[in-house]
Amino acid sequence: MTAHVRLGINIDHVATVRNARGGGHPDPVRAAREALAAGADGITAHLREDRRHITDADIEALSELCAVAGRPLNLEMAVTDEMLAIALRHRPHAACLVPERREEVTTEGGLAVAGHEARIVPAVRALAEAGVRVSLFIEPALEQVAAAHAAGAQVVELHTGRYCHLSGADRAVEFARLQAAAAHAADLGLEVHAGHGLDYETAADMVAIPEVRELNIGHFLVGEAVFVGLTHAIHRMRAAMDAAS
Ligand code: PXP
Repeated sequence: MTAHVRLGINIDHVATVRNARGGGHPDPVRAAREALAAGADGITAHLREDRRHITDADIEALSELCAVAGRPLNLEMAVTDEMLAIALRHRPHAACLVPERREEVTTEGGLAVAGHEARIVPAVRALAEAGVRVSLFIEPALEQVAAAHAAGAQVVELHTGRYCHLSGADRAVEFARLQAAAAHAADLGLEVHAGHGLDYETAADMVAIPEVRELNIGHFLVGEAVFVGLTHAIHRMRAAMDAAS
């Protein structure tokens, strides 16, 4: 039996629906509270440069909620001076550095750490010195794992988006890349997380990789919540993960 794989719930798309009408409903902070009550191990939120879903006020309220609940807040952020200042002000439990392009629909691809150390290493260092656990969201590629380790990250989150979109033999090849990246990261002493595009089935696949310690899941669960409610969707996800571990 593998140890408990943590489940972080990303509530960004509750804010997407709220922002479609510009009011306060549905409230991502209420969703975060419900997710924690349903057994989520932590809350993840991405404060984007264009504030298309999560806002600064949401981060403020989510920080408070997680502090009171004694559960981790994982702030996903681009490597910019603005986001670094916000992260250093809130000092979340963890920060996951992600690539960000304004025109993208979602986070496309992982952070190119190799070759961009001059920008990434100072951000990693500043966050770590402030007591924030730093994760780098990378493609499951050995050179990116090695670069993340050299950059001083404590965690790598492997991008599972490609895996989730592929099928058949191509999916098997991508699974082998994820396995190899996870093993290499663990050998280097990095904690391994995985996320992007996961559903009940693909989350179970990721839990079967023994080095994976945490999954961060948003879009699928928020979508499922429309049909079965957030609590039930999280219970089903937890059960799918536990059955695979
Ligand atoms: N992990 C990271 C680093 C992400 O950027 C995202 C998307 O915000 C997720 C996990 C969650 O992806 P999804 O919403 O597709 O489950």
